[in-house]
Amino acid sequence: VLSGMQLTIPPSPHLVFGAGVAGQLPDAVRALGGERAFVVADPGVVVAGLVEPLVEKCRAAGIDVEVFDGVQPNPTDVDVATGLAALRSFGDAVVVAIGGGSAMDSAKCMALAADNEGEGIDYCFHPQVGDDGRIDFSTLAPPRFPTAPARSVVAVPTTSGTASETNGAGIVTDTTAGRKLAFTNDDVRPRRVLLDPLLTVGLPAYPTATCGMDALTHAIEAFTSLLAQPLTDAIALGAIEMVATWLPRAVADGTDAEARAQMMLAAHMAGIAFSSGPLLGLVHAAGHPLSARLKAAHGQTLAVMLPHVMAFNAPVVADKYARVAVALGVADSTASSEDNTQRAIDAVRALSETVGTATTISGLGGTEDQRDVLVEDALSDPVILTTPRPPTRAEVAELYRAAW
Ligand SMILES: [Fe+2]
Repeated sequence: VLSGMQLTIPPSPHLVFGAGVAGQLPDAVRALGGERAFVVADPGVVVAGLVEPLVEKCRAAGIDVEVFDGVQPNPTDVDVATGLAALRSFGDAVVVAIGGGSAMDSAKCMALAADNEGEGIDYCFHPQVGDDGRIDFSTLAPPRFPTAPARSVVAVPTTSGTASETNGAGIVTDTTAGRKLAFTNDDVRPRRVLLDPLLTVGLPAYPTATCGMDALTHAIEAFTSLLAQPLTDAIALGAIEMVATWLPRAVADGTDAEARAQMMLAAHMAGIAFSSGPLLGLVHAAGHPLSARLKAAHGQTLAVMLPHVMAFNAPVVADKYARVAVALGVADSTASSEDNTQRAIDAVRALSETVGTATTISGLGGTEDQRDVLVEDALSDPVILTTPRPPTRAEVAELYRAAW
């Protein structure tokens, strides 16, 4: 009910979109007062040749650059600690993330901890689940809170999915506990963002697909969140339509410049939708434990869980899923919301088949003995707090069983 809502609409960070805009990196660093840049990247992005030209541009502009390329997919506390030590010894610098969600999340975590005590993982929430299957809020707080400001962050995404450039949050795997932990601090929301679709042209079909399914999930979860609101609903629906239209083309032909551009903006829009208040839901809560424990790609685990969670949520958000069916281009205007919900679920499954992410948890290497710990991890993930139909322990276990 809009008349009873008070909305917070955050300003966009300085953002440029377009082919070739990554070349503006030296200006972005300078605009933040930086004469030194600490670049955080993953080895794949370095091997793909995306980092060196940007580093050279910065050096040609008189900016002192150090590159840390030790970020692995599903980045860990160890990766962040190694990069953080390098950042601290490099000294005052703008932190520049060049890569996908792993590079951006790690860079933000390093920027947060750089001038504060301890390690990056100390700034993550450490939630535990109570006997009632809900997060015990007395356990949620991070071990440390920052007292010094974070370093400024510039984001140069090289994938179209995570949209980590839209917020100050991130996910780091706690290697001791084997689970993913989240941090959030608006101080590390990137202050300059260069969205250059040319950087995604070399991304192979499979990661293009998993990232695209991540973007689709962000949009659907933002749209059906308990904190959804009209402004973000419109952006989310726009993103869903763009993913449905363009992801198959980007996967089929990575050199399709229009598909790459559409997907980059779609992923960013989906990120704006969830980062502007609605947040996410049970697909991400159930997906994070799978990527943490099975080393599967984040978007792959979401693609596995998404149709099952939609079926679970259907009784409470069928009207919204009917609008998702419209955005996906499969709605029947004469059919009921329930029928159109089924059409939306079928379309998500079909898209996942088309782009090559349709599989099961056992297909990702999951073994039955892992299920109990997966359930506990999912219930403890703070992204579960905005899911439209809060599940019980037994219901999460049943969802995993259905996806097995
Ligand atoms: Fe995601």
